[in-house]
Amino acid sequence: MTKTKEFVAESVQNMRPSGIRKFFDLAANMEGVVSLGVGEPDFVTSWSVREAAILSLEKGYTSYTANAGLLELRNEIADYMENRFHVKYDPKEEIIVTVGASQAIDIAMRAIINPGDEIIVVEPCFVSYVPLVELAGGKAVTIETKPEHDFKLQPDQLKQAITPKTKALLICSPNNPTGTQLTKEDLQGICDIVIEHDLLVIADEIYAELAYDIQHTSIASIEGMQERTILINGFSKGFAMTGWRLGFCCAPKEISHACLKIHQYAMMCASTPAQYAALEALQSGMDDVVQMTKDYRRRRNYIVSSLNEIGLDCHIPGGAFYAFPSIKSTGLSSEEFAEKLLMEQKVAVVPGNVFGKGGEGHIRCSYASSMEQLQEAIKRIKNFIEK
Ligand SMILES: Cc1ncc(COP(=O)(O)O)c(C=O)c1O
Repeated sequence: MTKTKEFVAESVQNMRPSGIRKFFDLAANMEGVVSLGVGEPDFVTSWSVREAAILSLEKGYTSYTANAGLLELRNEIADYMENRFHVKYDPKEEIIVTVGASQAIDIAMRAIINPGDEIIVVEPCFVSYVPLVELAGGKAVTIETKPEHDFKLQPDQLKQAITPKTKALLICSPNNPTGTQLTKEDLQGICDIVIEHDLLVIADEIYAELAYDIQHTSIASIEGMQERTILINGFSKGFAMTGWRLGFCCAPKEISHACLKIHQYAMMCASTPAQYAALEALQSGMDDVVQMTKDYRRRRNYIVSSLNEIGLDCHIPGGAFYAFPSIKSTGLSSEEFAEKLLMEQKVAVVPGNVFGKGGEGHIRCSYASSMEQLQEAIKRIKNFIEK
């Protein structure tokens, strides 16, 4: 009999399935669940953006675009990055439109990793980082950030993790799952070490628009960093466009060319209607982004103060749409807490341990949900911990 499992590459056999999906699937099969589990906006994409995609189809724009994406869109992305985040990229050589930030992370890894290269990954973090480093043949060296530091990477931790094999630091601000936003000063401390050790940075800034107290600082805007940064961003979060699958990466010409080689063979180009939608989002969608951000801020303030009031310690996340409270006071592990909460009170959250080191003892609560849903969730979580 054919042993079909053996056809699967060992690197994939050994890969853990995403812990987020597991809870998502469990909750999907239950009635009356209040979900704080999903990491995507509850807003529908702005009408003008949807209309631009419809119009592109009506006009018959159904063929491939340039591999790197519509030049018109890349021009617009270059303006956006300059005006919003003070980093100037050449749209012809340094910007690639990708299938979500997810694909941008993948091509970045594959473009830079030689077998055995070490990539420092700051945890807790988005679930794809470690598997993508490993799939590209690299070794993920993880650093655990601590709640007492508001989950911020400390320069000393970074210094200690660097070895002669270190190639790059992968960092995300504002962060999923902690919501932690790094200030310019925080970034400067990290960049000094990165520059001293001649490292590259892969900066996942997909939540850049969702910053609530201070403006987002792009790591590439720090002196001496643009030439050593692969900047990743996209439309999923800030523009409420997860299903369109559109992101982009910006990098120095040589690295961008390397990423494009992979992108052209693996993907050809991102979806054409989605690119027309993104063009419209940048041209006319910023007012909606501001409005959504205001809404998230209000929800963040509510959920963080409510979690603290009911006895779950929660730092104030500066960005993204996640609260990451400690559940240590309950004596339960993250998995136990999430599973029991789902079964007993029908509230879906994600156990912190799925985000790697430092996540245990926490749960991720997404507040990309209506205020009514958030209020209901808090009521149920309170019932759960008081029982
Ligand atoms: C930190 C982070 N990076 C990247 C992504 C993927 O985004 P996209 O939908 O653009 O692929 C996510 C999605 O949850 C995320 O949280």
